[in-house]
Formats: sequence, structure tokens, C-alpha cells
Amino acid sequence: MISIVISSCDDGRIYEKTVHIPREGRTLKLTGKINGIDKWTNDYNIVVAGFDDKSEYAIISKIVSTSVGEDDNTQVIMAGISDDVTKVELCAIDRLRRRVVTFCSINSSTAEADTIRMDAGTIDVSMYHAIQTHIFTTSCIGCHGESTEAAAQLHLTEGVSYSALVNQPSTINGNILRVKTNNTQESLLHLILNSNDYTHHPHTDILPAKTKTELLELIDSWIDDGAQQ
Ligand code: HEC
Repeated sequence: MISIVISSCDDGRIYEKTVHIPREGRTLKLTGKINGIDKWTNDYNIVVAGFDDKSEYAIISKIVSTSVGEDDNTQVIMAGISDDVTKVELCAIDRLRRRVVTFCSINSSTAEADTIRMDAGTIDVSMYHAIQTHIFTTSCIGCHGESTEAAAQLHLTEGVSYSALVNQPSTINGNILRVKTNNTQESLLHLILNSNDYTHHPHTDILPAKTKTELLELIDSWIDDGAQQ
């Protein structure tokens, strides 16, 4: 007998509990139209992964293939998810299997079924979109927003941030570019987030302490790999 948990990224969790089965490992079935996997550098993998509450390191993970089936749908099946996994996610992990950004997540600790279904819907998981969502939109647009008064005339809102950054001269120091492709040390975006020597307005504590290291590495990896859109 099989019981099933149906979950969706959009509408939160819907559980259909039927029978309790002693678990020797649950199975995650992910479906979705997942775009942008190939736009990541080699330092990262887009995976489905299981985590516990204590650590940022994946206990189990499986790479999401870029090949798609009918209707552009991706399907991933990951078996053998042990009871210590409390959350399953569609996410980007680095080479240490550390979580960098989460695209879609389900609390699996309360799921009594042996199959966990995750419907990611249509989702853009590209590297620049992750930077936009998890860095700029989350931590920067309060000051670098839509208003004409954006700090240093730098707009980091979705849709305009890329052309505002890449190969554009800085407002506060005309000798440097905001982002110089393949060169973090000559990119003000890198410099201003890593040191307070470049501005009157300290930026080094703007990113949340918990994920700061991963997010700064994400920006560097993106710049070093040609700062692609
Ligand atoms: C609390 C307001 C505030 C927040 C939040 C903020 N900034 Fe700034 N930012 C400023 C100010 C003010 C300046 C201009 C500093 C100066 O004149 O020295 C600036 C300047 C910059 C510059 C230089 C732009 C140029 O053309 O010279 C960059 C790059 C930058 N910020 C990136 C970011 C990023 C990335 C984030 C989010 C992680 C962020 N900022 C969050 C206020 C902010």
C-alpha cells in the first residue's frame, strides 16, 4: 500500500495522509518546467536535496538534469531519503554540497508517506535570477530601488539591474566599473560588499550574516565566469 504526499511550491502544503508505513527511505518526485540550469558556473549544481534543521549541508542530493521530457517538463526521482531529512528542496549547492539558494522547499518531517511529490511549477533557476532574487531584491532595493533617488543612481530592481551593473561606470568612482566581467578585483560590486574602503556608506554588513559567505562567493563566481545574464 502506498500513501502519497502532494505538495506544491505555490499553494503551500497539502497533505493527504492515509496509512503509516515504516520508513526505509522515502522517495521524492519532483516535476516542473525548470529553466536556466545551464546558466550556472561549474562551481555549482542545481539539485533536489534533503537537509536536516541543523546544517546547510545536503544529507542527500541528486543533480537535476538539463534534458527535459514531453512538454518541456523535468522530472527527478530521488530515493532513499532517511528520517533525519526534515526538508527537501530544489536548490543550488556548491562543491561542498552547501546550500546556496533555495528555489522551492517542502517540510518533509511531518510527511508520513513514502512518496513526497514536489511540483515546482514553471521556475527560473538561472544564476543571475538567483542573484537578483536572493541578493538584490532581498537586501538592496530598499536604497537602490525604483525611485529616481536610487543611491548612487544605481537601480538594482528586477529587469534593470543587469544593464545598470555590467560594464557600467561607477557613480562614486569614475575610474572603476560597477561590474567588470571576469575581474572581481576591478568590480565595485565585489569591492563594496567585501570592504568598507570604497564608500562612505558601509556595505559589508548588509547581507544577512547567516548566508553572507555563500552569497559573496556567488557574486564572485558569476563575475569570474563572464557575468552572464
Ligand atoms: C541603506 C541603504 C543601502 C543599502 C541597503 C544598499 N546600499 Fe548600496 N549604496 C548606498 C549608498 C548611500 C551608496 C553611495 C555611497 C557613497 O556615496 O559613497 C551606495 C553605493 C553602492 C554602489 C556603488 C554604485 C556606484 O555606481 O558607484 C554599489 C555597487 C552598491 N551600493 C551595491 C549595493 C548592493 C549590492 C546592495 C545590497 C547587497 C546595496 N548596495 C545595498 C546605500 C545602500
